[in-house]
Amino acid sequence: MREQIEQIRKEALEALSKTNLQKDLEELRVKYLGKKGALTAILKQMGSLSSEERPVIGQLANEARQSIEKKIAQTAQELKDRELALRLEKEKIDITLPGKQPPKGSYHPLSLTLEAMLDIFRSMGFDIIDGPEVETDYYNFEALNVPKDHPARDMQDTFYLGENLVLRTQTSGMQIHAMEARKPPIRVIAPGKTYRVDEDSTHSPMFHQIEGLVVDKGVDLCQLKGILEQFAREVYGPETQVRFRPSFFPFTEPSVEVDVSCFSCGGKGCRTCKGTGWIEILGAGMVHPHVLEQCGIDPNEYTGFAFGIGLERLTMTRHKITDIRLLFENDVRFLEQFDK
Ligand code: DAH
Repeated sequence: MREQIEQIRKEALEALSKTNLQKDLEELRVKYLGKKGALTAILKQMGSLSSEERPVIGQLANEARQSIEKKIAQTAQELKDRELALRLEKEKIDITLPGKQPPKGSYHPLSLTLEAMLDIFRSMGFDIIDGPEVETDYYNFEALNVPKDHPARDMQDTFYLGENLVLRTQTSGMQIHAMEARKPPIRVIAPGKTYRVDEDSTHSPMFHQIEGLVVDKGVDLCQLKGILEQFAREVYGPETQVRFRPSFFPFTEPSVEVDVSCFSCGGKGCRTCKGTGWIEILGAGMVHPHVLEQCGIDPNEYTGFAFGIGLERLTMTRHKITDIRLLFENDVRFLEQFDK
């Protein structure tokens, strides 16, 4: 029995020292020390020993078990250490490698133009206000002197969301909101999305306008011209000329269309200005007395002017873009050209 125990011990220790895997380790433990293991089998035979021999063999068997257990624990630790070392080696990070640049976005040209425009108006003391894109018939048309069945509605056919609800066709309704919410002096700019049933190379069913409104005592057309001249020079350069052409809008009287001298040819006539030397940039006028009155402002005491600028048109002229759809297709090859 002594030899058997010694044999098991030797065999076990040798097998253990050749082990490379945690799972083999466990198998060996079962094989030698488990309930049905080799050493246990020996111990089961102890009953046949004499009472002198029993403690001696018992001690030997215990020593063998202890040394096998010790070896198992030791091997397990070694395997763990080796695995950790391997993992550390494999996962080593080379901090000297140059980093990968994530693709960087940039502002949309419409946003860039809008921000530049708002900066100009802010510097002139205007407040920037915001309002609903879903508008009632009253704010979009009625209060702006466009009653039901008025022919001016034809030019602004839009998307109806119900009997009296539309996607606004113009930001001019913000004039009404501003005059209802504030008392003169009023000086606001309202940029935002607008909608019309319209689509070709210069029209999009969704587009943007920037509305301006000034109401105070003694406001006149000269001041309107001064502000728009200042604006045009900041946008198109200090040499820019501005001219007013008579026009019609139901909510202004008189109404004008505003042209700037062509920034491409300086006014001599070229393709950009279709040979005229001028480019139309916005509509404007003196706020109609009836509109003031409806908003509870006395037209005998106060006057006002208003203007509406198309943001797409402004962006297109600034960057010589010929098709409005480029602004909405969002092709990165187009957009990345505006990355400052
Ligand atoms: N809302 C007009 C349009 O969409 C533009 C406009 C014209 C706005 C004259 C104004 C204005 O404020 O005074 O065609």
